[in-house]
Amino acid sequence: MEIIRSITALDRFLQPFRDEGKSIGLVPTMGSLHEGHMALVKQCVGENDVSVVSVFVNPTQFNDKEDFRLYPRNSEADCALLESVGVTVAFVPSVEEMYPEPDTRVFDFGMLDKVMEGRFRPGHFNGVAQIVSKLFYIVKPTKAYFGEKDFQQLAIVREMVKQLDIPVEIVGVPIVREASGLAMSSRNLRLSEEQRQKAAEIYRSLLLSADFVGEKSIRETIDFVTNRINQIDGLRVEYFDIVNGATLQPVSDWNESTYIVGCIAVFCGDVRLIDNISYKNLGKSNDVH
Ligand code: PAJ
Repeated sequence: MEIIRSITALDRFLQPFRDEGKSIGLVPTMGSLHEGHMALVKQCVGENDVSVVSVFVNPTQFNDKEDFRLYPRNSEADCALLESVGVTVAFVPSVEEMYPEPDTRVFDFGMLDKVMEGRFRPGHFNGVAQIVSKLFYIVKPTKAYFGEKDFQQLAIVREMVKQLDIPVEIVGVPIVREASGLAMSSRNLRLSEEQRQKAAEIYRSLLLSADFVGEKSIRETIDFVTNRINQIDGLRVEYFDIVNGATLQPVSDWNESTYIVGCIAVFCGDVRLIDNISYKNLGKSNDVH
């Protein structure tokens, strides 16, 4: 596996493969890789001639400086893991390499980024779009892989490639969970053992609420999940929204859409965790652009 730190070197490495018409898969990550990331990576390795995994903690998507500072960084262990599953290139640039000058681009995602994460983390998705578009311009991937764990991010990336006419196929990969049901996240490293056990209640509540579909109202479902989680000492729901999976706008009735998803953010102590559940998915959730 090549470990490449500069854009020029990466471009030089990839050009011969492009010339031969080889497929290039890209998995953007912020490192501290776990089984969740590795599901994307393995799928990428399996489906492409060349696989590139970027490891870069992107400062422009952190609206909280402290969160950026505390974000775990383990690039050596990450590279060893990537090598073990047959990745072609780990792209591990510095902040100066990716942002030689400030990125002043402002994206307009309409209502997509006004809700949920976008509401509580202003500017977050603009930063995600800045870094992901740069990576797309640099790597020119055939396919790029994103986890459904970050459900809203996936929708925004799909919208961004449409707006910018970037010729890449966006592939969504299902959430990987620990045995307890807790969605895997680099932030789980910051949880104590006791907090980890408590945090498993997030997905347990989401799963139980799946029985409410078509039986109880949306309001009752929201209250059930929110109250169950808030009852646990040390957990606090920031938002729990039940939305149309394509537009991300809240629904008020189960019949309002054929694609309905519940998205949640919960503070476990000072660690912020997100998760989601697909309640209804009769539409084409895996729209490819
Ligand atoms: P990061 O949080 O490192 O996640 C990288 C990718 O792994 C994302 O597409 C995320 O959805 C996916 N992922 C994380 N945990 C997962 C899990 N438990 N199951 C399935 N997929 C999972 O998301 C980012 O980085 C950044 O915003 C990035 C896109 C790299 C831009 O900086």
